[in-house]
Amino acid sequence: MSSFDDRAATWDDDPTKVVRARTIADAIRAAVPLTQHTRLLEYGAGTGLLSEELAADVGSITLADPSSGMRNVMATKVEVGRLPAGSRVWDLDLSTAPLPPDRFDLVVSLMTLHHIPDVPPVLAALAEALDPGGRLCVADLVAEDGSFHGEGFEGHRGFVTEDLADQVREVGLADVEVRARVHDVEKNRARYPLFLLTARRPG
Ligand SMILES: C[S@@+](CC[C@H](N)C(=O)[O-])C[C@H]1O[C@@H](n2cnc3c(N)ncnc32)[C@H](O)[C@@H]1O
Repeated sequence: MSSFDDRAATWDDDPTKVVRARTIADAIRAAVPLTQHTRLLEYGAGTGLLSEELAADVGSITLADPSSGMRNVMATKVEVGRLPAGSRVWDLDLSTAPLPPDRFDLVVSLMTLHHIPDVPPVLAALAEALDPGGRLCVADLVAEDGSFHGEGFEGHRGFVTEDLADQVREVGLADVEVRARVHDVEKNRARYPLFLLTARRPG
């Protein structure tokens, strides 16, 4: 069982996570076009908070997360109508599994990338998941001193956004833009800025 499995049932009890998702949804809405035909994939969706915020602006939702606890919470939200009927919940880790054949108009990811040790192959898969003209929106921690997760964390201490933008260009996406500080996460009396990176699949 992953630590995310343990935390899934009470994840939404933290109001700062709900506000974070709402703020990032606002930033995404301001940055990319959304329509009632937009096919959305949220990667590393957790309990699906970001998709809940975007639901009224898109056509269909697919929520992917390797944590069974998180997927159970999302499946319950679909059952009770907190996420739209027909939303799909996928068990997917693109660092170990191939991309399913489905394609999307919008791929979003919030606070997930820094948990993935080898980012470029996952970015390549997310780029491939887009149809031509589709958009990628990634929100995550700006490079920090390691205090966000503390000792023993094996992921990334946030990202140097210029380096991440280069990696996104290298997987074939265009119009890469970074909004440097769209939200601050407060933890242990410190503030950690989140960036929003957006990009478009050419075509
Ligand atoms: C910090 S949580 C963020 C959850 C949600 N996006 C939010 O903002 O509330 C990170 C999520 O990434 C998922 N995750 C961890 N490793 C992953 C991977 N390799 N691929 C996709 N998701 C992953 C975890 O299961 C967890 O749900």
